[in-house]
Amino acid sequence: MASRSCLTIILAAGEGTRMKSSMSKVLHEIAGLPLVGHVVKAVQGADDGADLAVVVGRGAADVQKAVGKISDKARFYEQTERLGTAHAVLAAREALAESHDDVLVVFGDTPLIEETSLRAARNKLAEGADIVVMGFRPENPTGYGRLVEENGKLIAIVEEKDATDEQRKITFCNGGLMALNGKHALQLISAVKNDNSKGEYYLTDVVKLAHAQGLNVIAIDVPVENVIGINNRAELAEAEALWQARKRRDVMLSGVTLIAPETVFFAHDTLIEADVLIEPNVFFGPKVTVECGAVIHAFSHVEGAHIGANTSVGPFARLRPGAKLAEKAKVGNFCEVKNADIGAGAKVNHLSYIGDATVGAETNIGAGVITCNYDGYNKFKTIIGSNAFVGSNSALVAPLTIGNGVYVASGSVITDEVPENALALGRARQVNKEGRAEILREKYKAIKASKNK
Ligand code: UD1
Ligand code: CA
Repeated sequence: MASRSCLTIILAAGEGTRMKSSMSKVLHEIAGLPLVGHVVKAVQGADDGADLAVVVGRGAADVQKAVGKISDKARFYEQTERLGTAHAVLAAREALAESHDDVLVVFGDTPLIEETSLRAARNKLAEGADIVVMGFRPENPTGYGRLVEENGKLIAIVEEKDATDEQRKITFCNGGLMALNGKHALQLISAVKNDNSKGEYYLTDVVKLAHAQGLNVIAIDVPVENVIGINNRAELAEAEALWQARKRRDVMLSGVTLIAPETVFFAHDTLIEADVLIEPNVFFGPKVTVECGAVIHAFSHVEGAHIGANTSVGPFARLRPGAKLAEKAKVGNFCEVKNADIGAGAKVNHLSYIGDATVGAETNIGAGVITCNYDGYNKFKTIIGSNAFVGSNSALVAPLTIGNGVYVASGSVITDEVPENALALGRARQVNKEGRAEILREKYKAIKASKNK
């Protein structure tokens, strides 16, 4: 198939009114990636060499930016008026005129399309079909275009509003996505008229035009979620759930244990090696990598972090962007780590905040230790060497360097550099006053008695 050239056109000009949003519909996210981003990734996965044209309308500049982050090949065409799907495709007329072997038309609001379906459609073109329509069989066909077949060939697609009662009974529906032979695509789409109940130029009309010209038009059956379109936030949440279910399955089949898969949420780019164990209720934001043997305990929130081999995270840990755990490091309950390297075997086990810092190998950070990295205006770095011990409830005021093998007494406020192997105490010395507790108690008792008189 690599020998056949391909142009993919993504339609993303819709108003998306039902999202009730200030933002273009296709920029709403599933697993941290805009809807249109999912479509671009599927297109790239099916054929990395394919040319890409994106038809934009509402929020054009933002859509362009979002797509540009994923593809440097994409060209953008603006559809200034929303006159229908055929009209939208023709916005990319210049690209269509380049005579690719295959033309794929996909929708920017149909994010769960899979590479396999795109390839299946193109394979049919390679075998001689002129148009391949991606059909599906929804539980409730209401609202979808119906696929009218005769002797295994598709002869028309009838929109719900234009369908006869008989046609409405057809359960094989148009998913909207289509592959066309590049030799005929521009000619067919240009011939579409808007003589229907909505007065729109329907892309679907190319089917009956092609049939009339004796071309070979077929429909293939693709899994329902491949073609579900997002129109409102309830459907967005349904698509998110489907995406998560797919990802959980992939992750488990690749060797990761999820104790309660339905409670673990991944981002579009989460990378997890085999033999990782993830306990219930863990959330992954974008840009997380997890190496083999790591255990992520319950109720942890992780984003922009690298979790090294055989580490332990949580329960109730928060790893923010730039957190990097080397092998066998531990970040325990109620700890937050941001923009910090935690060295091999180092421990940050209880109630700590480690931000803008480096913690050396095998160092122990006691309960409640805080790096004071921010003065209200600027951020500063804390560098802690290896094999150090920072006593509980110490405040490390950055910028600060603590050498290898240092011992910081608990409850210290450390503001100055601590040289290698030193003991640092940054708190008032303890004083014991013999017998004073008893005197104090008598005094307080007397005050209380005088009040109650
Ligand atoms: C379309 C199909 C219908 C199919 C359904 C599947 C047509 C005529 N109908 O209907 O057979 O069952 O998808 O979901 O194609 N768009 C533009 N510019 C326009 C019009 C649409 O960019 O002028 C984009 C939209 O943003 C959207 C896509 O094209 O991403 C589909 O348009 P939409 O109006 O949602 O078509 P449906 O009525 O759902
Ligand atoms: Ca739609």
